[in-house]
Amino acid sequence: KNIVILLSGRGSNMEAIARAGIPGARIAAVISNRPDAKGLEIARSFGIETLALDHKAHASREAFDAALAAEIERFEPDLVVLAGYMRILTDAFVRRFEGRMLNIHPSLLPSFTGLHTHRRAIEAGVKVAGTTVHFVTPELDDGPIVIQAVVPVLPEDNEDSLAARVLAQEHQIYPQAVRWFVEGRLSLENGRVRVRDAQ
Ligand code: GRF
Repeated sequence: KNIVILLSGRGSNMEAIARAGIPGARIAAVISNRPDAKGLEIARSFGIETLALDHKAHASREAFDAALAAEIERFEPDLVVLAGYMRILTDAFVRRFEGRMLNIHPSLLPSFTGLHTHRRAIEAGVKVAGTTVHFVTPELDDGPIVIQAVVPVLPEDNEDSLAARVLAQEHQIYPQAVRWFVEGRLSLENGRVRVRDAQ
């Protein structure tokens, strides 16, 4: 299965997926909207084709997303993976890849959509935090949940220590979700996630 990964920065989730060595998965390309994203360098070190598409060079969000979709299609993806891709996607883009586009968000959705999830979790005083892989729907950081991982929030935690604990779990569950998809076990059916048992 061909996978195209979109990112904007560090790329540690992309790296975790690449390192997982999922049988039958081929990362056809890693695309960034930021030419200086660290994740592009990491992808190249894995021998993965990379592409930077600068959103500032496009007049509108619609124009940029149309150009991005055209680039993605060149790689004939079975799956599009958002891994720290920090731009809001247009509805047209989301519909185009519906049922074959995943995202990871650093909270236990539906709690704490949006930014600064760890800071907000600490401020709210929640005792557990975590991360969610979900199919992408037009609502930001929302969409049918594929897999979640839970971590404790400790009394001495700050934003960074909690973020690190959550990130370690992201590196486990994102490759797992991709593996399920590549094995043909994960699908979106009438808006609901279905994970079939292994054969
Ligand atoms: C992750 O925490 C992910 O949940 C969020 O952005 C971060 C990306 O990190 N969407 P990285 O670029 O994969 O290291």
